[in-house]
Amino acid sequence: MTESRNLSKFAVPAEELERQKEYAALVETVLQSRYPGEKPLAFVHTYGCQGNVADGEKIKGILASVGFGLTDDLAAADLVLYNTCAIREHAQDRVFGNVGKLKPIKAQKRDLIIALCGCMMQQEYVAEKIKKSYPFVDLVFGTHVIHKLPEFLYRVLCGGKRVFDLSGGDGNIVEGLPVRRDGTFKAFVPIMYGCDNFCSYCVVPYVRGRERSRDFDTVVDEVRHLAAQGYKDITLLGQNVNSYHKNEPAHLRFPALLRAVNDIPGDFLIRFMTSHPRDCSKELLDAMADCDKVAKHLHLPVQSGNDRVLREMNRHYDRARYLSLIDYAYQKMPGLSITSDIIVGFPGETDAEFEDTLSLVKQVKYTSLFTFIFSPRPGTKAALMDDPTPKEEKSRRFQALTALQETIAAERTAAMNGKTYRVLVEEPAKTDGWLSGRTEGNIIIEFPGDDGLIGTFQQVRVTEPRTWVLKGEPADPASFCM
Ligand code: SAH
Ligand code: SF4
Ligand code: F3S
Repeated sequence: MTESRNLSKFAVPAEELERQKEYAALVETVLQSRYPGEKPLAFVHTYGCQGNVADGEKIKGILASVGFGLTDDLAAADLVLYNTCAIREHAQDRVFGNVGKLKPIKAQKRDLIIALCGCMMQQEYVAEKIKKSYPFVDLVFGTHVIHKLPEFLYRVLCGGKRVFDLSGGDGNIVEGLPVRRDGTFKAFVPIMYGCDNFCSYCVVPYVRGRERSRDFDTVVDEVRHLAAQGYKDITLLGQNVNSYHKNEPAHLRFPALLRAVNDIPGDFLIRFMTSHPRDCSKELLDAMADCDKVAKHLHLPVQSGNDRVLREMNRHYDRARYLSLIDYAYQKMPGLSITSDIIVGFPGETDAEFEDTLSLVKQVKYTSLFTFIFSPRPGTKAALMDDPTPKEEKSRRFQALTALQETIAAERTAAMNGKTYRVLVEEPAKTDGWLSGRTEGNIIIEFPGDDGLIGTFQQVRVTEPRTWVLKGEPADPASFCM
């Protein structure tokens, strides 16, 4: 891989990164004297979206670079780090619960370092709550200062004081951090950070800062490097990938990036997440259709099928625009698999407005849906809106939507019966001697096979089209369909 470039005004200065390298060397020395002849262990758990998982991989890279080994066993850990998510209240409650459980562990093991980071911590009121009510937490840092982890560790290890750092509100771009990838054949490549959309319900713009794009050639180089290492499924990540380099000329924007990574030699799939319907252009759908390595799967979150609700959500598209994009996409890519996110029970959503969501779902025929009940996030506009709909009614709507999607998914998978698909084999299935893999369209198929096939593409014929997890058998490559 060539030297990573960072030409953005959001670039962290090289001197700062050098300073962190000096801290890393100091931390390594301190750890060696504290744990003579052994490697201290870090337990890292990431909540939330793939963007956060990608951050977690950098955090693990930094921890490994200062001398930590990684463990999945909480009881064996010398450092516990939770990389948190703030998207819904439930996500936060889980974190508070799990942090609480660390108190007795710390009481037994005084040297244990407890660190919290990620989107949830980037909110002032959460950091304050940790400061006051969770005195056993040693380190809290926000989403913009991950690169300063060596310095934070040094201060915790040698300063004897708790460290809190939520600085850098607008965000930055840091290139060249070490990365410890979780997978050996699936990889995430962030192409942009932050979000400027301010959907009225969403906390992301507040906790992730302004939209900023990584350098085009740096991204292409990273994908080239991953492909050369044998990665088979590479996902380009951003909260709104369509606005990648939105103020740059066309040859630097997202459709051009897709074409550039598609030109990299090798047998691998390219995915991307998330596409915002406002900025999803015909150019993007054309690029998807033209590029043989780009998975024919489009995640295009609609959130609601009703125009008034979409306006209140500040989504900047309407039902007609969304459906015309879907029409164009199916026209260009007949076998396309489309998935979506939907929020049920947005403040003031009426039953009739919810029915519009059901009818849109029927029309689009999604492969699968991520459905959420609206959760008010402090600091967002929607959290202040009148929300008279009772909880029970929201649950009823939620169930109606998931039941509808289940029938649609069953119809879709029934149509796959007897056909052959290229599947990336991911892991052993629960049944002995069976494997689990995914089609390009992100549909899970299980089939009998040897563990040695994990991480390879196989042709699988569907023999039992269940709603979510299909069953199949190895097929003759000649009968490949998609
Ligand atoms: N950038 C992506 C979404 C990221 S968040 C996009 O715009 O599509 C993932 C999903 O969480 C959102 O699509 C939305 O459906 C859901 N979500 C976000 N905030 C929420 C909230 N306050 N309550 C319920 N669901 C929410
Ligand atoms: Fe949140 Fe909207 Fe940005 Fe997605 S586009 S991250 S939903 S503000
Ligand atoms: Fe959660 Fe932050 Fe992602 S709020 S969904 S981890 S950007």
